[in-house]
Amino acid sequence: MVAQPGIADGREGARLSPLARLLGGILVATVVVATVAASSAVAGERTQRFALEIAILSSRSNRLLSGGLTTAQRGRLQAKIRSALGVLPLLARECLEEQRRADERPLLARLRTLAADDSHGRTTDLAQGLERLSRRYPVDMQGLLPLPASRRAARAGRTLYDQLCMGCHAYPDARSPAPAPDLFAMAHALSDAQLVVSLLNGVRGTRSTTLVNPLNNQEIADLAAYLKQKEASGP
Ligand code: HEC
Repeated sequence: MVAQPGIADGREGARLSPLARLLGGILVATVVVATVAASSAVAGERTQRFALEIAILSSRSNRLLSGGLTTAQRGRLQAKIRSALGVLPLLARECLEEQRRADERPLLARLRTLAADDSHGRTTDLAQGLERLSRRYPVDMQGLLPLPASRRAARAGRTLYDQLCMGCHAYPDARSPAPAPDLFAMAHALSDAQLVVSLLNGVRGTRSTTLVNPLNNQEIADLAAYLKQKEASGP
Protein backbone atom coordinates (compact mmCIF):
# COMPACT_ATOMS: atom_id res chain seq x y z
CA MET A 1 0.00 0.00 0.00
CA VAL A 2 1.42 3.38 -0.95
CA ALA A 3 0.62 5.72 1.87
CA GLN A 4 -0.52 9.10 0.72
CA PRO A 5 1.04 11.93 2.65
CA GLY A 6 -1.34 13.51 5.07
CA ILE A 7 -3.65 10.50 5.14
CA ALA A 8 -1.03 8.08 6.48
CA ASP A 9 -0.52 10.21 9.56
CA GLY A 10 -4.17 9.97 10.40
CA ARG A 11 -4.18 6.21 10.13
CA GLU A 12 -2.61 4.40 13.02
CA GLY A 13 -2.51 1.20 11.01
CA ALA A 14 -0.03 2.64 8.53
CA ARG A 15 2.75 2.66 11.09
CA LEU A 16 1.95 -0.71 12.72
CA SER A 17 3.61 -4.02 11.92
CA PRO A 18 1.65 -6.42 9.68
CA LEU A 19 0.98 -8.66 12.69
CA ALA A 20 -0.41 -5.77 14.69
CA ARG A 21 -2.56 -4.78 11.75
CA LEU A 22 -3.78 -8.35 11.42
CA LEU A 23 -4.66 -8.48 15.11
CA GLY A 24 -6.33 -5.10 14.80
CA GLY A 25 -8.39 -6.45 11.92
CA ILE A 26 -9.44 -9.47 13.95
CA LEU A 27 -10.38 -7.21 16.82
CA VAL A 28 -12.53 -5.07 14.53
CA ALA A 29 -14.16 -8.19 13.08
CA THR A 30 -14.84 -9.49 16.59
CA VAL A 31 -16.39 -6.21 17.63
CA VAL A 32 -18.60 -6.24 14.53
CA VAL A 33 -19.72 -9.82 15.18
CA ALA A 34 -20.33 -9.05 18.85
CA THR A 35 -22.36 -5.97 17.92
CA VAL A 36 -24.46 -7.90 15.43
CA ALA A 37 -25.00 -10.65 17.99
CA ALA A 38 -25.97 -8.14 20.66
CA SER A 39 -28.44 -6.34 18.44
CA SER A 40 -29.98 -9.57 17.23
CA ALA A 41 -30.37 -10.64 20.84
CA VAL A 42 -32.64 -7.63 21.23
CA ALA A 43 -34.78 -8.19 18.15
CA GLY A 44 -33.43 -11.09 16.16
CA GLU A 45 -35.73 -12.60 13.61
CA ARG A 46 -35.78 -16.03 15.24
CA THR A 47 -36.20 -14.60 18.70
CA GLN A 48 -39.14 -12.58 17.41
CA ARG A 49 -40.57 -15.67 15.73
CA PHE A 50 -40.39 -17.59 19.01
CA ALA A 51 -41.91 -14.70 20.96
CA LEU A 52 -44.76 -14.41 18.47
CA GLU A 53 -45.56 -18.08 18.66
CA ILE A 54 -45.72 -17.90 22.45
CA ALA A 55 -47.91 -14.79 22.32
CA ILE A 56 -50.38 -16.41 19.94
CA LEU A 57 -50.38 -19.62 21.97
CA SER A 58 -51.01 -17.59 25.08
CA SER A 59 -54.00 -15.82 23.56
CA ARG A 60 -55.35 -19.09 22.16
CA SER A 61 -55.14 -20.87 25.49
CA ASN A 62 -56.94 -17.92 27.12
CA ARG A 63 -59.58 -18.12 24.44
CA LEU A 64 -60.02 -21.80 25.28
CA LEU A 65 -60.51 -20.87 28.94
CA SER A 66 -62.95 -18.06 28.25
CA GLY A 67 -65.51 -20.49 26.81
CA GLY A 68 -68.38 -19.58 24.50
CA LEU A 69 -67.06 -21.86 21.77
CA THR A 70 -68.89 -24.52 19.80
CA THR A 71 -67.53 -28.04 20.10
CA ALA A 72 -66.06 -27.79 16.60
CA GLN A 73 -64.38 -24.44 17.33
CA ARG A 74 -62.99 -25.83 20.54
CA GLY A 75 -61.60 -28.86 18.78
CA ARG A 76 -59.91 -26.76 16.10
CA LEU A 77 -58.43 -24.42 18.68
CA GLN A 78 -57.08 -27.36 20.68
CA ALA A 79 -55.57 -28.88 17.55
CA LYS A 80 -53.85 -25.59 16.70
CA ILE A 81 -52.49 -25.28 20.22
CA ARG A 82 -51.19 -28.83 20.20
CA SER A 83 -49.40 -28.53 16.89
CA ALA A 84 -47.91 -25.16 17.88
CA LEU A 85 -46.63 -26.68 21.12
CA GLY A 86 -45.02 -29.41 19.03
CA VAL A 87 -43.05 -26.89 16.97
CA LEU A 88 -42.10 -24.73 19.95
CA PRO A 89 -38.92 -26.63 21.02
CA LEU A 90 -37.56 -26.18 17.50
CA LEU A 91 -38.22 -22.45 17.55
CA ALA A 92 -36.77 -22.27 21.07
CA ARG A 93 -33.50 -23.84 19.95
CA GLU A 94 -33.20 -21.42 17.06
CA CYS A 95 -33.93 -18.53 19.38
CA LEU A 96 -31.30 -19.62 21.92
CA GLU A 97 -28.79 -20.16 19.14
CA GLU A 98 -29.40 -16.65 17.94
CA GLN A 99 -28.96 -15.31 21.46
CA ARG A 100 -25.83 -17.46 21.85
CA ARG A 101 -27.03 -19.01 25.05
CA ALA A 102 -25.36 -22.30 25.78
CA ASP A 103 -27.73 -24.01 28.16
CA GLU A 104 -31.00 -24.82 26.49
CA ARG A 105 -32.18 -27.31 29.12
CA PRO A 106 -34.14 -24.95 31.40
CA LEU A 107 -36.19 -23.55 28.53
CA LEU A 108 -36.78 -26.95 26.95
CA ALA A 109 -37.90 -28.28 30.34
CA ARG A 110 -40.41 -25.45 30.61
CA LEU A 111 -41.75 -26.31 27.17
CA ARG A 112 -42.10 -29.97 28.16
CA THR A 113 -44.15 -28.90 31.17
CA LEU A 114 -46.43 -26.88 28.90
CA ALA A 115 -46.88 -29.83 26.55
CA ALA A 116 -47.70 -32.08 29.53
CA ASP A 117 -50.23 -29.54 30.84
CA ASP A 118 -51.84 -29.54 27.42
CA SER A 119 -51.99 -33.29 26.99
CA HIS A 120 -53.47 -33.71 30.49
CA GLY A 121 -56.09 -31.03 29.87
CA ARG A 122 -54.67 -28.62 32.49
CA THR A 123 -55.65 -25.59 30.45
CA THR A 124 -55.36 -23.11 33.31
CA ASP A 125 -51.79 -24.20 34.06
CA LEU A 126 -51.00 -24.07 30.36
CA ALA A 127 -52.37 -20.54 30.03
CA GLN A 128 -50.46 -19.34 33.11
CA GLY A 129 -47.23 -20.98 31.98
CA LEU A 130 -47.51 -19.39 28.55
CA GLU A 131 -48.21 -16.00 30.08
CA ARG A 132 -45.05 -16.23 32.20
CA LEU A 133 -43.05 -17.36 29.21
CA SER A 134 -44.33 -14.49 27.09
CA ARG A 135 -43.19 -12.03 29.75
CA ARG A 136 -39.75 -13.60 29.52
CA TYR A 137 -39.80 -13.50 25.70
CA PRO A 138 -41.86 -10.43 24.81
CA VAL A 139 -42.71 -9.63 21.19
CA ASP A 140 -40.61 -6.71 20.00
CA MET A 141 -43.18 -4.03 19.19
CA GLN A 142 -40.73 -1.46 17.90
CA GLY A 143 -42.11 0.13 14.75
CA LEU A 144 -45.51 -1.45 15.42
CA LEU A 145 -46.85 0.26 18.53
CA PRO A 146 -48.24 2.76 19.21
CA LEU A 147 -50.38 2.38 16.08
CA PRO A 148 -50.03 5.30 13.67
CA ALA A 149 -52.96 7.71 13.85
CA SER A 150 -52.33 9.54 10.57
CA ARG A 151 -54.60 9.64 7.54
CA ARG A 152 -51.71 8.31 5.49
CA ALA A 153 -51.58 5.18 7.65
CA ALA A 154 -55.32 4.57 7.41
CA ARG A 155 -55.25 5.04 3.64
CA ALA A 156 -52.27 2.71 3.23
CA GLY A 157 -53.95 0.17 5.51
CA ARG A 158 -57.14 0.33 3.50
CA THR A 159 -55.28 -0.26 0.25
CA LEU A 160 -53.54 -3.29 1.75
CA TYR A 161 -56.80 -4.67 3.09
CA ASP A 162 -58.67 -4.16 -0.19
CA GLN A 163 -55.92 -5.70 -2.27
CA LEU A 164 -54.73 -8.53 -0.07
CA CYS A 165 -57.32 -9.51 2.51
CA MET A 166 -60.83 -8.53 1.46
CA GLY A 167 -61.28 -11.30 -1.10
CA CYS A 168 -61.31 -13.92 1.62
CA HIS A 169 -62.14 -11.97 4.78
CA ALA A 170 -65.11 -9.91 3.58
CA TYR A 171 -66.70 -12.89 1.84
CA PRO A 172 -65.82 -15.90 3.96
CA ASP A 173 -66.64 -19.35 2.69
CA ALA A 174 -69.66 -20.25 4.82
CA ARG A 175 -69.23 -23.98 4.16
CA SER A 176 -65.65 -24.01 5.35
CA PRO A 177 -65.02 -25.50 8.80
CA ALA A 178 -62.61 -22.60 9.38
CA PRO A 179 -63.95 -19.55 7.56
CA ALA A 180 -61.84 -16.40 7.40
CA PRO A 181 -62.81 -14.25 10.39
CA ASP A 182 -64.15 -10.68 10.07
CA LEU A 183 -60.99 -8.67 10.62
CA PHE A 184 -62.89 -5.54 11.73
CA ALA A 185 -64.74 -7.46 14.42
CA MET A 186 -61.43 -9.01 15.44
CA ALA A 187 -59.79 -5.58 15.67
CA HIS A 188 -62.66 -4.41 17.85
CA ALA A 189 -62.32 -7.35 20.24
CA LEU A 190 -58.54 -7.20 20.67
CA SER A 191 -56.13 -4.73 22.25
CA ASP A 192 -53.71 -2.99 19.88
CA ALA A 193 -50.91 -5.32 20.92
CA GLN A 194 -53.04 -8.44 20.52
CA LEU A 195 -54.21 -7.24 17.11
CA VAL A 196 -50.65 -6.67 15.93
CA VAL A 197 -49.63 -10.12 17.17
CA SER A 198 -52.50 -11.83 15.39
CA LEU A 199 -51.79 -9.92 12.20
CA LEU A 200 -48.13 -10.88 12.35
CA ASN A 201 -49.21 -14.48 12.75
CA GLY A 202 -52.43 -14.52 10.76
CA VAL A 203 -51.08 -13.13 7.55
CA ARG A 204 -48.89 -16.16 7.10
CA GLY A 205 -51.43 -18.28 8.92
CA THR A 206 -52.76 -20.39 6.10
CA ARG A 207 -51.10 -22.71 3.70
CA SER A 208 -53.06 -21.07 0.88
CA THR A 209 -51.14 -17.86 1.40
CA THR A 210 -47.48 -18.10 2.33
CA LEU A 211 -45.83 -19.27 5.51
CA VAL A 212 -43.63 -16.20 5.66
CA ASN A 213 -45.26 -12.91 6.53
CA PRO A 214 -44.92 -10.85 3.35
CA LEU A 215 -45.70 -7.56 5.07
CA ASN A 216 -43.16 -5.34 6.78
CA ASN A 217 -43.72 -3.73 10.18
CA GLN A 218 -45.03 -0.48 8.79
CA GLU A 219 -47.57 -2.29 6.63
CA ILE A 220 -48.74 -4.35 9.60
CA ALA A 221 -49.09 -1.17 11.69
CA ASP A 222 -50.98 0.63 8.89
CA LEU A 223 -53.30 -2.33 8.47
CA ALA A 224 -53.97 -2.52 12.21
CA ALA A 225 -54.62 1.24 12.34
CA TYR A 226 -57.12 0.97 9.49
CA LEU A 227 -58.95 -2.00 11.02
CA LYS A 228 -59.21 -0.19 14.36
CA GLN A 229 -60.33 3.16 12.90
CA LYS A 230 -62.90 1.57 10.63
CA GLU A 231 -64.65 -0.17 13.48
CA ALA A 232 -64.60 3.04 15.50
CA SER A 233 -66.26 5.05 12.76
CA GLY A 234 -68.78 2.35 11.82
CA PRO A 235 -69.00 0.25 8.67
C1 HEC B 1 -56.84 -16.95 0.47
C2 HEC B 1 -57.74 -16.44 1.45
C3 HEC B 1 -57.18 -15.47 2.48
C4 HEC B 1 -56.50 -14.30 2.27
C5 HEC B 1 -56.11 -13.66 0.94
C6 HEC B 1 -56.22 -13.75 3.59
N1 HEC B 1 -56.72 -14.58 4.55
FE1 HEC B 1 -56.56 -14.35 6.56
N2 HEC B 1 -57.48 -16.10 6.87
C7 HEC B 1 -58.05 -16.89 5.88
C8 HEC B 1 -58.74 -18.03 6.51
C9 HEC B 1 -59.50 -19.11 5.77
C10 HEC B 1 -58.55 -17.89 7.90
C11 HEC B 1 -59.05 -18.82 9.01
C12 HEC B 1 -58.01 -19.87 9.20
C13 HEC B 1 -58.29 -20.72 10.40
O1 HEC B 1 -59.14 -20.39 11.23
O2 HEC B 1 -57.61 -21.74 10.50
C14 HEC B 1 -57.76 -16.67 8.08
C15 HEC B 1 -57.35 -16.21 9.33
C16 HEC B 1 -56.75 -15.00 9.52
C17 HEC B 1 -56.44 -14.45 10.83
C18 HEC B 1 -56.73 -15.11 12.16
C19 HEC B 1 -55.64 -16.07 12.47
C20 HEC B 1 -55.86 -16.68 13.82
O3 HEC B 1 -54.98 -16.55 14.64
O4 HEC B 1 -56.91 -17.29 14.06
C21 HEC B 1 -55.89 -13.23 10.61
C22 HEC B 1 -55.41 -12.26 11.68
C23 HEC B 1 -55.83 -13.01 9.19
N3 HEC B 1 -56.36 -14.11 8.55
C24 HEC B 1 -55.34 -11.87 8.60
C25 HEC B 1 -55.28 -11.69 7.24
C26 HEC B 1 -54.83 -10.45 6.63
C27 HEC B 1 -54.38 -9.22 7.39
C28 HEC B 1 -54.87 -10.64 5.29
C29 HEC B 1 -54.46 -9.66 4.19
C30 HEC B 1 -53.14 -9.09 4.32
C31 HEC B 1 -55.37 -11.99 5.05
N4 HEC B 1 -55.61 -12.58 6.26
C32 HEC B 1 -55.57 -12.56 3.80
C33 HEC B 1 -57.99 -16.68 4.53
C34 HEC B 1 -57.32 -15.65 3.92
